[in-house]
Amino acid sequence: MSRRRLMKPAFTTTHIAVMEQSILEAGPLSVMKKFDEAIRQKESDDGGCGGAAKVNYVDSFHYMTFDVIGELAFGQSFGMLQKGDLFALDGIKALNTLEYFKEVYVPLLSKYKELLVPSMIKKINRLKDFTKDVVAKRKKQTASNSNKSPSGVPQDILQVFINNTDQETKAKLKEKDLISELIVQLFGGTDTSSNTLSWTLFLLMVYPETYKKVCREIRSTFPDRSKPITYTEGLSKLPYLEAVIYESMRFLPTTSGRVGRKVPEQQGFELSTGQYLPPGTEVSVPIYSIHHDGALWKDHHVFIPERFLASEKEGNSVEDVVARKKNLMTFSTGVRVCPGRNLAMCEIFMTLANILRDYDFWLPEDMVEFGPDVIDDETGEPRIIPGFLGITYTPRYSERDGWICVKHNVASSQ
Ligand code: HEM
Repeated sequence: MSRRRLMKPAFTTTHIAVMEQSILEAGPLSVMKKFDEAIRQKESDDGGCGGAAKVNYVDSFHYMTFDVIGELAFGQSFGMLQKGDLFALDGIKALNTLEYFKEVYVPLLSKYKELLVPSMIKKINRLKDFTKDVVAKRKKQTASNSNKSPSGVPQDILQVFINNTDQETKAKLKEKDLISELIVQLFGGTDTSSNTLSWTLFLLMVYPETYKKVCREIRSTFPDRSKPITYTEGLSKLPYLEAVIYESMRFLPTTSGRVGRKVPEQQGFELSTGQYLPPGTEVSVPIYSIHHDGALWKDHHVFIPERFLASEKEGNSVEDVVARKKNLMTFSTGVRVCPGRNLAMCEIFMTLANILRDYDFWLPEDMVEFGPDVIDDETGEPRIIPGFLGITYTPRYSERDGWICVKHNVASSQ
């Protein structure tokens, strides 16, 4: 069964709505619990927050996205945010490193990996064993529920993958394939979403007018802090927040690298420019460059969410915005478009809506190299914290640059 066919039912908008409450709990509500704890314990050192709490938002979002995928694809949060249990992250890091070395440096590594990198193998095996266990438990639970109401079984990604059958053969996924597909969800659905959240929050800190405007929209539309903002309810009511997310994904796409493709071996391909690509040619689309192409984006070097807001005041028609969204490559496009994009948008939207409503954020005073008034010589715009382009584009020094001051938004608290 193809991966895309397997994944499709788990990521439809209808199924995302079914999983929304779990996403909310393992995602924004959990990260807010962490912020509350930091505020309660006044977790501030000499860090320039004027006595307010200081949190590492880059790490917090990273752990949060693991916990969300844990909840949805592994039937339980990994407990990274609340318990600091990092075994799933360690397993993914080890897998990444091993793949990288295998491909780039040491083809023989795959043969002798057990001997050469025992600690990495241990971490990978722990994640695999955990996944195997999760699958076995869920299958048992499903079996014991088979004659009862299906409501006893969670309607999550794990269940969709277990239930799925091949259309032709009617066969279910083999256990080995099921385990590897679940682990693929961790690769696809963690760094990508967490980097997008981190870049967005940072951009709001260095573009304070945008920060104020988006907070105004959220706080005036959903003033009751006792009720979390859901995606279902919020999306149509918070167009500026949505525009901020789109512009952040344009300005600093977490998939800044190149999306690779190969021209089919059977026939070549002619570009609209007349150039001919022979069969087997490897080509790639540089996402960051497309998002900063001056022919497509006016003032591409400036963070302007208004370009994604359909409004007369901004001089944008609905058609303009639709056309601009089509030029966004963050989730790629065509048959290989990211299958998890609906889930990503739901998670990112709910996280930002809730934290921006309930807390005030500002950059620590001792972070003197960045801020609204620290201008980059090249762009004439606020300087951006350094990024690292690996598989995703990620804040490079999270232990140095990933900090933010936080306090409750007293104005709207009940
Ligand atoms: C902001 C968040 C995300 C971004 C920017 C993103 C972006 C991408 C991109 C650019 C691709 C490659 C497509 C291509 O080759 O053309 C991809 C593939 C993929 N994504 Fe996402 N993604 C995000 C979140 C997620 C989430 C939340 C999941 C699932 C839980 C997910 C699962 C996957 C999978 C499984 C693939 C590989 C699909 C295949 O084999 O064809 N992604 N994503």
